[in-house]
Amino acid sequence: MSNGIFRKKSVQSILDDVKNGFGDGEHSGVHLTKALGVKDLTLMGIAAVVGAGIFSTIGEASFHGGPGVTLLFILTAVTCGFSALCYAEFASRIPVAGSAYTYAYASFGELVAWIIGWDLLMEYAIGNIAVAISWSTYFVNFLAGLGIHVPEYLTLDYLSAFKAHEAVQELTKAGKLSEITDTIKNAALAWDTAPTFGSIKLIGNIPALLIVVSITYLVYIGIRETKKATNAMVFLKIAIVIAVILIGCFYVTPANWSPFLPNGFSGVMKGVSGVFFAYIGFDAISTTAEECKDPQRDLPRGMIYSLIICTVLYILIALVLTGMVSYKDLRVGDPLAYVFLKVGLNKISYVISVSAVIATASVLLIFQMGQPRIWMTMSRDGLLPKAFSRIHPKYHTPSFATIVTGCVVAIPALFMNLTEVTDLTSIGTLFAFVLVCGGVLLMPREAAVAGRFRLPYINAKFIVPVLFVIGMVVFWEPFTKLLDGDNLHHKFPFFLFIILSLVLTVLSFLKNLSLIPVLGLMSCFYLMTELPYQSWERFLIWLCLGLIVYFTFGYKNSVLGKRGNIDKLS
Ligand code: ALA
Repeated sequence: MSNGIFRKKSVQSILDDVKNGFGDGEHSGVHLTKALGVKDLTLMGIAAVVGAGIFSTIGEASFHGGPGVTLLFILTAVTCGFSALCYAEFASRIPVAGSAYTYAYASFGELVAWIIGWDLLMEYAIGNIAVAISWSTYFVNFLAGLGIHVPEYLTLDYLSAFKAHEAVQELTKAGKLSEITDTIKNAALAWDTAPTFGSIKLIGNIPALLIVVSITYLVYIGIRETKKATNAMVFLKIAIVIAVILIGCFYVTPANWSPFLPNGFSGVMKGVSGVFFAYIGFDAISTTAEECKDPQRDLPRGMIYSLIICTVLYILIALVLTGMVSYKDLRVGDPLAYVFLKVGLNKISYVISVSAVIATASVLLIFQMGQPRIWMTMSRDGLLPKAFSRIHPKYHTPSFATIVTGCVVAIPALFMNLTEVTDLTSIGTLFAFVLVCGGVLLMPREAAVAGRFRLPYINAKFIVPVLFVIGMVVFWEPFTKLLDGDNLHHKFPFFLFIILSLVLTVLSFLKNLSLIPVLGLMSCFYLMTELPYQSWERFLIWLCLGLIVYFTFGYKNSVLGKRGNIDKLS
């Protein structure tokens, strides 16, 4: 065992801990319920993946990329595929609830494990804030269809209402009334009609708050209940997505697919955050490892099957969407419902809006379930207070961590804004993928065991150097322009990518690295470089905050650290 911040847990000790019930008073003897098989895991994967991304953020991505956004769906799927295989390798070797956090503990050591655990908070909790906000928009539309009007100030965050109010004032003053869209008008109405408390306007996204509270309750009372709810929702969701593809393809006008890349490759890459957000989730099922009947066989399959199914659906949806209307019309929050409205199928459009309510609720469910399980694992390791690993004696769920997750998501969902949380979630998740792929490279290769998944080994020795040279030749021109222009620091992530690729190329050649994790690491890092610089800044601030928490609490209370001290004394 190495010391200090790089102390590592051996795979065997992680597995022993799970088997022995962690032997402390908080939860010894109380295990999570083993209820999940490969079908449940695949459905959970789809439940986590198909949500706000395909029902919402695909619109903005298609607007920038045109029909060529389909290529981005393929590129992102390949990137996620490499990461899914690396997750599968870890899930098969270390089937415990901590997901990437536990994998990093075994491969990189405690500090990186902490960073990844902290980072996963960004994927799960902040991602769920985004999903809750998106859910609320669809839910309000759904109620409007039933003739129920919710006052605007109860459906929006404070800042959006304030900004819309200012925008209306400015546009009115400038005489640009035609630029005041319905969305701006409604948001400004929230500001104008909100009741006040003293001088503060009472504006908040109440449906977002309520859905998080309801979902948290469901997750609190048990994995079986969560499983039943997920299975029911996911079948409906897949049926709706397939219906959109089948009905939509009759309304495709092939002329809309031309030009295929109206804004070039750079236009396509503007959609990275939204498209990647649509794929997030297949990794979340690894947090249920201790609730699987046979995690080493079923978890890898569940992740890979769900990713393949979602990829096929996404590519078809992207083609249908951009074929039904001009890509220029797709900059809307509800593109799937919108295209049917546009071709005159109003009833189908309404059914899609309703299904989006269900689809996004199931995403919330999976992430609301995943987050407490990661906290539970971090708490067992002493990096978070003990209460986080308490398991409810009756419901057999991580009770305290589930309630805290509920609060951490529900309260910000009341007043936060959608787009920024989406970017943060994407960068946080990509970083987790980078570390998981890197972690696989650090783990010693194991002999094959019957019934267990094993990552296929392809020697990267020559393939990666050849790919690197091809990449340099193809991108030579943009590469030479990197040092031109202002804001050079904005290009810093890309420089980092080049350095990382070079190092990996050399290491691949010298050490015969495994190809899949190397490509996974490079492709995820590349997608990170395509995200806005502001997201990088916020992400780094978030990581610094995490380091402060680690050095003031986790480092001192680490179970591994304490074991190390006892070993030294005895
Ligand atoms: N992939 C999930 C969604 O699109 C996060 O909602």
